[in-house]
Amino acid sequence: MSGFRELGDVVHFRLFTRDLVLVAHPNDVRWVLQEHTSNYNKRTRGFEVLRAFLRQGLLTSEGDHWLRQRRIAQPAFHRTRIAGFGDAMTQAAGELVDRWLCGSAPAVVDVTAAMMRLTLRIVGEALLSTDVSHEADRVGQALNITLRRANAAIYQIVPLPGWWPTPARRRLRAAMRTLDDVIFEIIAERRASDSEPDDLLSMLMRARDEDTGEGMSDAQLRDEVMTVFLAGQETTALALGWTWYLLSRHAAVRQRLQTEIDTVLGGRTPTVADLPRLGYVERVVKESMRLYPPAWVISRCAIEDDIIGGCRIPAGSIVLLSPYVTHRHPRFWANPEDFDPDRFETSRQAERPPFAYFPFGGGPRQCIGNSFAMMELVLVVTTIAQRCRLDLLPGEPVGTSPSITLRAATPITMHVSPRAPAPV
Ligand code: HEM
Repeated sequence: MSGFRELGDVVHFRLFTRDLVLVAHPNDVRWVLQEHTSNYNKRTRGFEVLRAFLRQGLLTSEGDHWLRQRRIAQPAFHRTRIAGFGDAMTQAAGELVDRWLCGSAPAVVDVTAAMMRLTLRIVGEALLSTDVSHEADRVGQALNITLRRANAAIYQIVPLPGWWPTPARRRLRAAMRTLDDVIFEIIAERRASDSEPDDLLSMLMRARDEDTGEGMSDAQLRDEVMTVFLAGQETTALALGWTWYLLSRHAAVRQRLQTEIDTVLGGRTPTVADLPRLGYVERVVKESMRLYPPAWVISRCAIEDDIIGGCRIPAGSIVLLSPYVTHRHPRFWANPEDFDPDRFETSRQAERPPFAYFPFGGGPRQCIGNSFAMMELVLVVTTIAQRCRLDLLPGEPVGTSPSITLRAATPITMHVSPRAPAPV
């Protein structure tokens, strides 16, 4: 973390034959993601690996194809269109609390695993109106294998050739075939039927290119469905896991959060209409993603030579933009290691430049699911914190284990105890 204090805002290093450049200053992040985006593509190793899973989906496509897809898909992710998923979010979180609290003794839970299952259920219901979170279920199992393998493959130091028949690869191929079959089957049923459920898949199927009036092909719909599963599940689960961890270590913040929840809701289940009055919960979630941004590094490849922060960036360099690093930059964040949700008071936003905080990336490739994710995070934290308290088991602080996302190095294991809303 002291890197930029000692080395400056642009840190250059070489890995084998590749130039890597870590850019920490918010203005330089803006330059790469927003102002000079035409000079940067996504052709890094991680991108190529993900492409094998997601093919032509939004996350792993570029150029005209990406632009057309983004234009078609964008309205489906608009805040007003996704508001209808709020009830599915609170219901799934509520049922999780019911399971936690059904025994007489306080439950001990692996919070990261629980949040992974919860967000898989939520994204599955929002996308396909189906609960895919049961590992015993063939779809749940196939999704778990695919999502785990996508992560593992990116970090394989010496990649095996694609045709090499390892047992893990055979399982992966079978899992991907299962998912393809299920997704294509659902699409075919919907095309054949007059009624359609109110989910993201229906919205994507109805979406049309404004200029040509064309919709998406079945293959494209499959790629977007897989992309949303991969992009939207683990990221949100990690943000929730880190939020519970931080709340457990900061009693005063947790107390304020519970007071806001009790005052606003008086014991009833939250809805999307309550979101504007759950401002402190939102600030807690934002501050948690400042310290532990789930997508902790975003990479780009320079197409032509460039200058960033006065340093020459040769064509072909991999430019790394790290929310983790920039979010702790002492020039833009006072006491950067402290957990202080009030930094996100509206009146204090002007204290820092826009790209000092970018958990969802920025510019044209900014996360299309950011409103969905924020809504999910606030509703899930509210539903759970209203009815129970999560306390970290005594032990060492939990460290990070950065892979494609910022995971915890060890399971976050917590005691769950019931709490009744304080009278208001
Ligand atoms: C806390 C949760 C989330 C975080 C931190 C997150 C973060 C990000 C980031 C940083 C990017 C940009 C990557 C880049 O520029 O290379 C991105 C892209 C994307 N995200 Fe998210 N995301 C989250 C949740 C979601 C959800 C819930 C969905 C879908 C429902 C989603 C769908 C996508 C898609 C499709 C893209 C690609 C957009 C494009 O390139 O046009 N994300 N996300």
